[in-house]
Amino acid sequence: MSAEIEKRLAELEEAGLRRRTRLVSGPQGAHVMLDGRSVLLLCSNNYLGLADHSRVKEAAVAAAERWGAGAGGSRLVSGTMTIHQRLEERLAAFKGSERALVFGSGYLANLGVLQALGTEGTLICSDELNHASIVDGCRLARARTAVYAHNDVEHLRWLLERAPERDALVVTDSVFSMDGDLAPLEELGELTAARGARLIVDEAHATGCVGPGGRGAVAEAGLDGAEHVVIVGTLGKALGSYGAFVASSALVRELLVNTARPFIFSTAPPPAALGGALAALELLSEEPERVAQLQSRARTLCDELAREGFDVAGSSTQIVPLVVGEARQAMAICEAALELGVFAQAIRPPTVPEGTSRLRLAVMASHTKEELREAARTLGRAALKAGFRPGEGIPVAAASGPRQERLEGWAA
Ligand SMILES: Cc1ncc(COP(=O)(O)O)c(C=O)c1O
Repeated sequence: MSAEIEKRLAELEEAGLRRRTRLVSGPQGAHVMLDGRSVLLLCSNNYLGLADHSRVKEAAVAAAERWGAGAGGSRLVSGTMTIHQRLEERLAAFKGSERALVFGSGYLANLGVLQALGTEGTLICSDELNHASIVDGCRLARARTAVYAHNDVEHLRWLLERAPERDALVVTDSVFSMDGDLAPLEELGELTAARGARLIVDEAHATGCVGPGGRGAVAEAGLDGAEHVVIVGTLGKALGSYGAFVASSALVRELLVNTARPFIFSTAPPPAALGGALAALELLSEEPERVAQLQSRARTLCDELAREGFDVAGSSTQIVPLVVGEARQAMAICEAALELGVFAQAIRPPTVPEGTSRLRLAVMASHTKEELREAARTLGRAALKAGFRPGEGIPVAAASGPRQERLEGWAA
């Protein structure tokens, strides 16, 4: 039995795909102590720097003092704490939806929403570059799944027109987690409304980062409050805490409470995480300039990387991929950058399609412009050291290939 596991790990090593975690001491700030050395952190989703904000931390501590360290069980068994209810009211108002429902994580929220809405006789249309939790949600659902080409509305229309199913769901990231580009939400909103289909939008990397006051790409597209739109958002990225939520109509929420397995069969998120998220939402409404600062910092990094010869045209958000191609080369650049004091994690298959390994850079509002300028220069040097000329990178659009396996029943 152990020999089989060792063999699988050796195969991963051989392919340059073996993972290991690195040890970080201290919070996710612009700089972290990594394996004992201070480095610039350029791969954290703590986009607004709120994970280490004094008010967020104090609110987390206060919530633990008042409600205890744990929620005690599934809310259907041991009850909804008042802090769950309070956060859900705040999240619904923030997202402009009728109601919200908190989940243990974004991974669980995507599983829950797709499994609950994707019943037998439904067609789920999923963008080929959607996050793994959406892919797994499609697997858990009893619906048939069709994968459409990345951001290709015409391909999606083609699929929907030919679908024999009466009910259909379209599911997409709004900010794509590994590419930093945006889904064409206005068109998707129109197309789904015309077909009588539901549109599920994963705003994990949009919440707190894009749209008016950081309310997300759905709000930016004017789809907030639309009855057919269901939003998944996370608390663990820009909101600096942990957990997730679904913002939807009251009817969909009621269905989730009754049928979403990750809600029913899992302990509710702990009070400290909810208290931290509440404080983060408060900070965001008091200081919306944090969002503008994040976007401005992202532009600075892109400009500086372009100056170094990197192709970063595909990104329009705080997520900036440097697509390298081969997994080993991406790892070599990552290690060379670390040596020079910049931590930018390499992302390899199966997280991204074969042949599109990359450094996924994530900007934080708390990075200074000078830090980002210096980081771009460092990455340029690291690339050369690893034998990679920045101009030779694969443009994101060309690099994007099918990542989800083609689930049964679809041939385009
Ligand atoms: C697009 C997207 N959706 C969902 C998730 C999962 O969220 P969580 O980390 O809260 O489980 C992630 C996490 O990386 C993500 O990138």
